[in-house]
Amino acid sequence: MRRKTIVIIVVVIAFTAFLAWRFLRPMNIFVVSEAFERPIPVKQLPASVTSQSAKACAQCHAEIYSEWSTAMHSRAWTDPYFQTDWKFDDSRQICKNCHIPLEDQQEHLVTGFRDKDKWEPILESNPRFDADLQHEGVTCNVCHLREGRILGPYGDTRAPHAITKMEDPNQVCLHCHVVQGKRWDTFFRMPPCGTVVEIESAVEKINCVQCHMPTVQRPLVAGGLIRAARRHLWRGGHDPEIVKRALKVEFSEKTIDTDRHRVTATLTNMGATHFLPTGTPDRYLTVTLQVLDASGKVLKSQEETLKRTVMWRPFIVDLWDTRLPYQQPRTYTMDFSTGGGKARLVEIVVRYHLLDEARRKRIQYENKESIFYDIYRESISIKQ
Ligand code: HEC
Ligand code: HEC
Ligand code: HEC
Ligand code: HEC
Ligand code: HEC
Repeated sequence: MRRKTIVIIVVVIAFTAFLAWRFLRPMNIFVVSEAFERPIPVKQLPASVTSQSAKACAQCHAEIYSEWSTAMHSRAWTDPYFQTDWKFDDSRQICKNCHIPLEDQQEHLVTGFRDKDKWEPILESNPRFDADLQHEGVTCNVCHLREGRILGPYGDTRAPHAITKMEDPNQVCLHCHVVQGKRWDTFFRMPPCGTVVEIESAVEKINCVQCHMPTVQRPLVAGGLIRAARRHLWRGGHDPEIVKRALKVEFSEKTIDTDRHRVTATLTNMGATHFLPTGTPDRYLTVTLQVLDASGKVLKSQEETLKRTVMWRPFIVDLWDTRLPYQQPRTYTMDFSTGGGKARLVEIVVRYHLLDEARRKRIQYENKESIFYDIYRESISIKQ
């Protein structure tokens, strides 16, 4: 064999091996930043707070506790979709630092890292591990307790526990919801679980709590002063109502010439300063336009998908994104023939999907709650 041939063969083998490794290696889809590389340690509790549990806060802040109990934050660990996905993803420790961030919510303490990227923590068993606390997910103290003091928006209430003023409540959200993922081998920016990445550049200006923690006039404790406070609701994709309210749909039908008609649907994100849908790349919308005959049989149908599409292997590349940016109308049209009067009705169905059916199957998530729901449905009779 000639030298040149050998060199070519070696290069081809090396390149094939490199690609194979890219296909087989564990997927580290984000950069582990200092903000969440370790769990949050709790050295001491403030006076009159008897334990780290949300139940200890509930003794005085009952209403806030019951709101939090209905939010996904309180289920960030027990959520069956998270549990299935986490196990499918090799039960990585790093996931816990946002889903159950307090040190005593975790069986292990992180004492260091084996690798530069901090994906392989050195673990030691945690003698103070508390299984009940673990089940509380993103609990009160994850956002409120630092150095034995409670962070609060007023900073001057007469609370029985020590208080520090929370400078900017939105900073609390960014800790987990906006994370950068710049690396040489990712051609996109991918925070874990893909949350609100699209607003990264404008993030300083976006007021998360304004929409996700609506204001309310009420006392913080039974019999206390009435204050301008915020409800602890954090509604998102799991709440059809918040999604419905944010989306404006205009639907119409018109005759173009004797036999040809056109349906037009215009969708506008009126209620979310980030994209709609936002969050994990799992979430997407479908818009279905249909022409039906008198018996309800579908004569013509067209489906649009509003989704962030990512290529995961061999390299992570953000391919395209068809979700709705804030206040930018998007129009879809479909032309059809009336088939000599057969076509009677045109219909639009807009549907929100929490995750894709193919993914549900792949990770074997046996959902008890539906993974999609309708957010808009309208039909118009065709004038003959
Ligand atoms: C995901 C983070 C987060 C969690 C979890 C959380 N809070 Fe808050 N909480 C906040 C933020 C942010 C504010 C400040 C809102 C503002 O700007 O007024 C706040 C405000 C408060 C206030 C001041 C009054 C008000 O409504 O603004 C109290 C009291 C409070 N939280 C108690 C609790 C209790 C009790 C729990 C658990 C049952 C809890 N919080 C869970 C983020 C959180
Ligand atoms: C023994 C009762 C009690 C317990 C237990 C308690 N709080 Fe409070 N908390 C209060 C009172 C009283 C205030 C002040 C109310 C006022 O002045 O309107 C307060 C105020 C606050 C504020 C607002 C502080 C500010 O000035 O900005 C936050 C936030 C808060 N509590 C969070 C918590 C959290 C989180 C827990 C659990 C770790 C907790 N509290 C446990 C009684 C309690
Ligand atoms: C410690 C990390 C952490 C912090 C801090 C945090 N979140 Fe979350 N948030 C999560 C996790 C994890 C979930 C997903 C829980 C699940 O669905 O399993 C979530 C879910 C949500 C959802 C989606 C609910 C749904 O229906 O799917 C909204 C909205 C939200 N958070 C808003 C906020 C806002 C606003 C703040 C700031 C006040 C905040 N979060 C602070 C970790 C955090
Ligand atoms: C103007 C109101 C508004 C503001 C400001 C806003 N959101 Fe939202 N958010 C919404 C609405 C409406 C939805 C439901 C529709 C959707 O998913 O886009 C939502 C959904 C979400 C979800 C749920 C995604 C899921 O997977 O279910 C998360 C997480 C979230 N927002 C986080 C944030 C964070 C973090 C900020 C601040 C950086 C923020 N939002 C600012 C209105 C808002
Ligand atoms: C930097 C913080 C952070 C880390 C690390 C993290 N997550 Fe999340 N995760 C979130 C937030 C914030 C949400 C809510 C986003 C949303 O609703 O769109 C979330 C949502 C999810 C959801 C969607 C749950 C639902 O309600 O539909 C799954 C599944 C999930 N995470 C799995 C994981 C796994 C597996 C890992 C580890 C490989 C991980 N997460 C690591 C912050 C994090």
